[in-house]
Amino acid sequence: MPNRLLLAAARKPGLKKLITGTPITKAVARRFVAGETLEEAVQAARNLNTGGLGAILDYLGENCSTGEQADAGQDAYIASLETIVSGHLDSHVSVKLTQLGLDQSFDGCLARMEKIVARAAEARTTVAIDMESHQYTDATIEMYRKLLGTHSNVVLCLQAYLKRTARDIEGLLPLAPKIRLCKGAYDEPNEISFDRHETSRNYIELLEMLLLGSEYTAVATHDDLLVRAAVKTARRLSLPLERIEFQMLFGVRRELQIGLAERGYAVRVYVPFGDQWYPYLMRRLAERPANMRFFAEALIRG
Ligand code: FDA
Repeated sequence: MPNRLLLAAARKPGLKKLITGTPITKAVARRFVAGETLEEAVQAARNLNTGGLGAILDYLGENCSTGEQADAGQDAYIASLETIVSGHLDSHVSVKLTQLGLDQSFDGCLARMEKIVARAAEARTTVAIDMESHQYTDATIEMYRKLLGTHSNVVLCLQAYLKRTARDIEGLLPLAPKIRLCKGAYDEPNEISFDRHETSRNYIELLEMLLLGSEYTAVATHDDLLVRAAVKTARRLSLPLERIEFQMLFGVRRELQIGLAERGYAVRVYVPFGDQWYPYLMRRLAERPANMRFFAEALIRG
């Protein structure tokens, strides 16, 4: 589980103002965020592709409050897809439904998703749906089910720290889902979520369900134990390499990303970009105490 105190503090508007207003924070954010513009994200994706790694462009933003903002999110994704095509990039896109108006209207969000997914299908690429906090799990799965009715180029992220996820996977398996499995990055109540140790145990069990039951699984983790478990399970089940893709975050464990690619595994790196980087940065700081030290030292060095 990520550091709860930090995630709770991060929600205070005063702290947000303080942190985003400090130039040094922007420099720290650059470790995890490719840049504020699409051009910078494309350059990062190109560098990854040159090194044999795929990319996933993520235009940062969440919980928009108007239809205009949601339309702007949609347009940013369409522009990202156009650039993927024109730049011949090996890249997916990944979206947050609350960036596309889920808080305002499920149907409005679905209409925007349909446009993005259709454009991605023309571009022969994939749209992944990030999983946000538990208040959105049902609606996100429902959105995925609806999109699967017309398109197969959609991936859904599920979180191993939620106790419900085994049931969710069971319900989805008959639909031949494409799932990205992660641990989970939000501050969730104990009643519905596992602790750190139990999350890893659950991750391995869910991975086995997915590898046995679906054609494609994205193993989204930097955890050596889980990466080893995935490799071991895939070998035991004699799965072809294409059934599994390792996914990691920009700026995190680059040596592991490259090492897996050199061993012949597909590796894809999540490349966040845009000026709404604050919540993303805070989640990255919260999941690793050493990042807080790195951040504090940078602030002190000024
Ligand atoms: P863990 O946090 O235990 O880290 C294992 C090791 O990796 C650490 O010891 C450290 O070496 C390194 N590491 C991990 N995080 C680091 C960091 N921030 N900085 C530096 N080193 C770090 N979550 C979610 O709730 N919804 C989502 O849609 C997604 N989507 C997503 C996509 C992809 C491609 C990835 C890789 C991750 C996500 N996540 C996510 C985030 C995920 O839930 C989780 O918070 C992080 O991946 C960290 O968990 P690990 O499994 O890496 O393990």
